[in-house]
Amino acid sequence: TQEQKDLIFNSIRDIKDFPKEGIIFKDITTLLNNKEAFKTLMDHFEERYKSYNLDYIAGIDSRGFIFGAALADRLGIGFVPVRKKGKLPGTTVCEKYELEYGFDEVEIHLDAFPIKDARVLLIDDLIATGGTATAAAKLIKHVNAQLVEVCFLLNLKFLSGDKKVAEHAPVYSVLEI
Ligand code: PRP
Ligand code: MG
Repeated sequence: TQEQKDLIFNSIRDIKDFPKEGIIFKDITTLLNNKEAFKTLMDHFEERYKSYNLDYIAGIDSRGFIFGAALADRLGIGFVPVRKKGKLPGTTVCEKYELEYGFDEVEIHLDAFPIKDARVLLIDDLIATGGTATAAAKLIKHVNAQLVEVCFLLNLKFLSGDKKVAEHAPVYSVLEI
């Protein structure tokens, strides 16, 4: 309901000039420490995805881990981390993506989904340019899983990152600004 979305939206705090001047940072720590807001959000995700027949939730390092792991537990399925480079110990595949200045890389274990054609939901807290989520989406496909949907808590729609990700899978976001 709109009331639930308002509760979730109002629990996210704006921090001006972080990490640098001119940026308004969307701080989700005030959602996470608000038990009503956190539960309302997880109820919403659970309700949407319980009928998707998912095998795994993949979460993006690091804020995507929080929601992804909580949702995987609610759905009674496994969780797979897509990590920033250099953190995963096994054999990995990696994908570069562009930042405002320079590049970064995300990685996944080659054997992250030990089921044939695993049905996977990719989750992150926020989509801005879509660079991170697009790279993560490519990784999931590279390791032969089915990317069923990519979901976000918050979509910064004016940056059109959702269009980039939508080339790989359907995109869903709880809130948009
Ligand atoms: C933020 C956010 C998304 C990503 C969105 O993560 O949590 O993962 O940026 O940006 P994009 O759509 O332009 O790629 P960040 O890299 O700051 O790291 P964190 O999650 O570890 O805080
Ligand atoms: Mg992140």
